[in-house]
Amino acid sequence: MKYIKVEGPTPLKGRVRVAGAKNSVLKLMAATLLAQGTSTLRNVPDIIDVRIMGELLRRLGCTVDHDRAAASLRIDVPQKPGVRADYELVRAMRASICVLGPLVARCGEAHVALPGGDAIGSRGLDMHQQGLEELGARVHIEHGYFIAEAPNGLSHADIRLDFPSVGATENLLMAATLTQGTTIIDNVAREPEIIDICRQLAEMGADISGIGSSRLEITGVSELHPADHCVVGDRIVAGSWAFGAVMTGGDVVVDGIDPAHLRAVLDKLECAGATIEKEESSIRVHGPQRPAGIRVSTLPYPGFPTDLQPFVVALNALAEGTGMITENLFEGRWRFVQELTRLGARVRVDGHHALVIGVERLSGAPVEASDIRAGAALVMAGLAADGVTEVTGVEHIDRGYENFVNHLTELGAIVERGESPDPVDAVLG
Ligand code: UD1
Repeated sequence: MKYIKVEGPTPLKGRVRVAGAKNSVLKLMAATLLAQGTSTLRNVPDIIDVRIMGELLRRLGCTVDHDRAAASLRIDVPQKPGVRADYELVRAMRASICVLGPLVARCGEAHVALPGGDAIGSRGLDMHQQGLEELGARVHIEHGYFIAEAPNGLSHADIRLDFPSVGATENLLMAATLTQGTTIIDNVAREPEIIDICRQLAEMGADISGIGSSRLEITGVSELHPADHCVVGDRIVAGSWAFGAVMTGGDVVVDGIDPAHLRAVLDKLECAGATIEKEESSIRVHGPQRPAGIRVSTLPYPGFPTDLQPFVVALNALAEGTGMITENLFEGRWRFVQELTRLGARVRVDGHHALVIGVERLSGAPVEASDIRAGAALVMAGLAADGVTEVTGVEHIDRGYENFVNHLTELGAIVERGESPDPVDAVLG
């Protein structure tokens, strides 16, 4: 079992640069399927999920060349890509579902394994299905696969999403770029990662208006061409470092992001007592001696991101006063609270809400990460806690955080990465 061991309390101090956003690059990689030829992506994070998506594209017949030193990816897409994304890959990474839209649009057919539930909730696909049907695809589920067929091509539609789902917006947007006529998708997600994919598609020759608004108008073209695109900076990783600075009473400059993408987050950190300075592509976050408890409700962008919710719980756990969190997107996101209580946090979860009564000091303990963000939040909590915290389930953190341990070391953390025996073997020998 891989672990990250930290010794606290240690303030994070220094400068860290974030790479391109995980939640953008995976979709940008999928979007390259829409055009034959070689596309290039820059500012690509060196994370496990990029490798999984690279493997998925290879199995669809693409040549994928990841130059880690240059943080760039070249993806050569054949004239006729494969149309099947196997369970093995989709199970390893739910975001694989985003090849659905490009494949059905370009090849007239897509067979993508159903991801099933994951560690943060049930995560339906009904809006993906309904939207593709409105675009003229025949959709059915067979032997665990989501199958979409449109042998004569997709047609334009007037779609209204029930909820601004990030994944459904991306799949339907990509599918609509190659339909005949003009498609309207209303109530779309407006995350910076959606704007990023719209820009990439426009660079590929797509005709999209309303970028950044909640209504996209896409006029289909007969074909797209490859493009060279730079991935938007990862606001969630940047936000993780910002929380780390505030939780540990540190002082961290985060480079490589647009501070406007973190507005809701930085406002809340100011409420917690942090001093924030914003530059064009960086932020400086100076934590108070002890943060104050904050109230946060997660919402689609520009609201507070659900991916930073575990950090709010962890911050409130050591804050002065009481904090309150309402999770509106993923019902399973409270799983990690039990782990946090092992560090001495006082948290009461009731449905969508968590009430957190701040304690003077957390105390280090072994804990286990249940998903990417919970893992990083537990490491930050460990840095603020007295003594040693060993976080297992590090594979989750590796999926979304590039060079996490190196960055922690550069910021002054006492941190070590290692591998311990399986707990059952350790007990039974
Ligand atoms: C993406 C992000 C994830 C982030 C989330 C919300 C990636 C790889 N993941 O996930 O990190 O937390 O956006 O910002 O980009 N829903 C349905 N039916 C659908 C689609 C969604 O019920 O057809 C529900 C989901 O169950 C969930 C909510 O809508 O409760 C939000 O889902 P969505 O915005 O689609 O998130 P993802 O694209 O899965």
